Amino acid sequence: MLTMLDKTDLGPLSVSRLALGAMLFGGNVEESLSRQLLDQYVAAGGNFIDTANNYSFWTAYAGSSEDLLGRWLKDRGRRDDLVIATKVGALPNRAGAGLEDIEGLGRTAIMRGIDSSLRRLGTDYIDLYYAHIDDRTTDLEETLAAFNALVQAGKVRAIACSNMAVWRIERARQLSRQHGWAEYAGLQQHFSYFRPRPDSDLKRNAVMGLRGGWGTEAGLRGQHLDYIRFNPDFRAVAYTPMLRGAYADPSRLEPAYRTEDNDKRRAALEAVAGETGATPSQVVIAWLLHSTPAIIPLVAASTPAQLAENIAGAGLTLSAEQMAHLDGAA
Ligand SMILES: NC(=O)c1ccc[n+]([C@@H]2O[C@H](COP(=O)([O-])OP(=O)(O)OC[C@H]3O[C@@H](n4cnc5c(N)ncnc54)[C@H](OP(=O)(O)O)[C@@H]3O)[C@@H](O)[C@H]2O)c1
Repeated sequence: MLTMLDKTDLGPLSVSRLALGAMLFGGNVEESLSRQLLDQYVAAGGNFIDTANNYSFWTAYAGSSEDLLGRWLKDRGRRDDLVIATKVGALPNRAGAGLEDIEGLGRTAIMRGIDSSLRRLGTDYIDLYYAHIDDRTTDLEETLAAFNALVQAGKVRAIACSNMAVWRIERARQLSRQHGWAEYAGLQQHFSYFRPRPDSDLKRNAVMGLRGGWGTEAGLRGQHLDYIRFNPDFRAVAYTPMLRGAYADPSRLEPAYRTEDNDKRRAALEAVAGETGATPSQVVIAWLLHSTPAIIPLVAASTPAQLAENIAGAGLTLSAEQMAHLDGAA
């Protein structure tokens, strides 16, 4: 049986099969509880912790999550045991601005971003540095050259992208190869067992314009999954895999997921949960990990009980029949 303790490769990194999101730490989740959850995750064998330079400007301030992680890392020590991922590109340009006015992925933003993240985290290297968005206003080569310079300087161990269209991923990787630069080792995208309506989120993305989009539209879709399947060196990390608690509490399901397709998926989930004695949330985590190729769930939790449940989900074994049942529900 595989558990969260088992590691998997992501580029040159060895990461736990379940990643922990720190987006709400230092914001919605206050400091002592955030530290408790971080300690719980690490004590269970987890090493893969995710933040961003803009978390969470909407509840606290941009950098509050990195600041909290920095204080926790300082008290904890043993920095090298952990894989710290952070992101650049989606920091609002001024206090009070939202995602419609963000820094983007030009060289200046990246060079400023890395030094700010290193300072807040109190470390001299980031394990995994993400391009947070798909910035269509900046030349890809400029972004990739800047990321490569960070790898060369030892400030970053590996790079990855997030919320990016599949053709842009392939173009970026080709460019990096042509230049002999570090290339994106993976993708962090919105993904879960339930599937959003195909036309969902278009309005939100129209607001985002040329600097990418978030949410269901930026999720892992058929083409991304196809790309990942045939590029085994390129790993996928799924954010918001719990649909913010909607598997435990169906009333939380966003309108984009209220479909007949997902009614059938919920029935399959509940059947497999019944067979295994697991919760639907745990079956979703196990489904991601059992998929081909395996997808790394990037979960968050706001209570120790939720986190314990999610960690146990990474240890749940699903049979081939159960996977076929889940995959076939539509
Ligand atoms: N790359 C990107 O653009 C991007 C975007 C979003 C997030 N992320 C990353 O992904 C991480 C996770 O994102 P997320 O917080 O949106 O996703 P999530 O894991 O789907 O949702 C977390 C929330 O779901 C509820 N929950 C979690 N486990 C549960 C359980 N076992 N039972 C019942 N409820 C449970 C809790 O809500 P309550 O607190 O309400 O109970 C928890 O705060 C973030 O921390 C961040 O690192 C990345």
